[in-house]
Amino acid sequence: MRRLEGKCALITGAARGIGRSFAEAYVREGAKVAIADIDIARARKSADEIGSQAIAVEMDVTDQASIDHAVAETALSFGGIDILINNAAIFTAAPIVEIDRADYQRVFDINVAGTLFTLQAVARHMIERGQGGKIINMASQAGRRGESLVAVYCATKAAVISLTQSAGLNLIEHGINVNAIAPGVVDGEHWDGVDAFFAKYENKPLGQKKREVGEAVPYGRMGRAEDLTGMAVFLASAEADYIVAQCYNVDGGQWMS
Ligand SMILES: NC(=O)c1ccc[n+]([C@@H]2O[C@H](COP(=O)([O-])OP(=O)(O)OC[C@H]3O[C@@H](n4cnc5c(N)ncnc54)[C@H](O)[C@@H]3O)[C@@H](O)[C@H]2O)c1
Repeated sequence: MRRLEGKCALITGAARGIGRSFAEAYVREGAKVAIADIDIARARKSADEIGSQAIAVEMDVTDQASIDHAVAETALSFGGIDILINNAAIFTAAPIVEIDRADYQRVFDINVAGTLFTLQAVARHMIERGQGGKIINMASQAGRRGESLVAVYCATKAAVISLTQSAGLNLIEHGINVNAIAPGVVDGEHWDGVDAFFAKYENKPLGQKKREVGEAVPYGRMGRAEDLTGMAVFLASAEADYIVAQCYNVDGGQWMS
């Protein structure tokens, strides 16, 4: 028996990377998935490659009209939304004395406000529908502890963990479980960008930071997007009905809490 049979999911930032792997895993488990992304061309390509159970939906999580439209479009296409993964986010890094206010605002708009107001729009839909649901927010080990060059991104992910707790406590009365996943270091295009930031600020050749962080993981390597799909399927399934307001580390043993 597939664990998400008949369920319908909206995944933000699913055109590539971890979100795309989640979409593939959900379809394998019997769900229909809306791949919602600001990069609509890539979202369409991913949906085409995944197959008829996936659709592409254009969505900018910083724009309320775009959020409302994407939620309405997904609900209309599928007849309702059972699962949301708030996965869209961007990374930034800079020493404290170089943090730029516009960059700070952009990252908070996507990572924090984007998470909160997408969660709100989908929660309103779920409450009106009256069938509960599952909401998963993508946090990070960066939200567990500050990092010297990563103040703004770390603060956004700490905020995601806090929002998960408050929303989890507030929405469980409607049968909506809100939880989070905190990955460690996951290889892919996101980490290509992170590596480039560290090359700039720590004066390292490209690729060196990736090697260093991979070697520092107790499991012995960087994560892969597929390493996270088990937790994402579990938290969206009926097996997780009694799990509320938690944040799970899936990071090869890097963080313990
Ligand atoms: N890769 C890692 O090492 C790692 C570690 C911890 C947490 N995470 C978190 O996991 C999630 C996925 O990470 P990833 O590595 O797949 O990232 P990624 O950069 O590969 O993918 C992010 C996706 O979000 C989309 N996006 C960006 N801005 C958007 C917006 N305004 N509206 C809608 N979509 C937008 C992008 O187009 C892209 O498809 C993120 O929340 C990230 O912070 C990643």
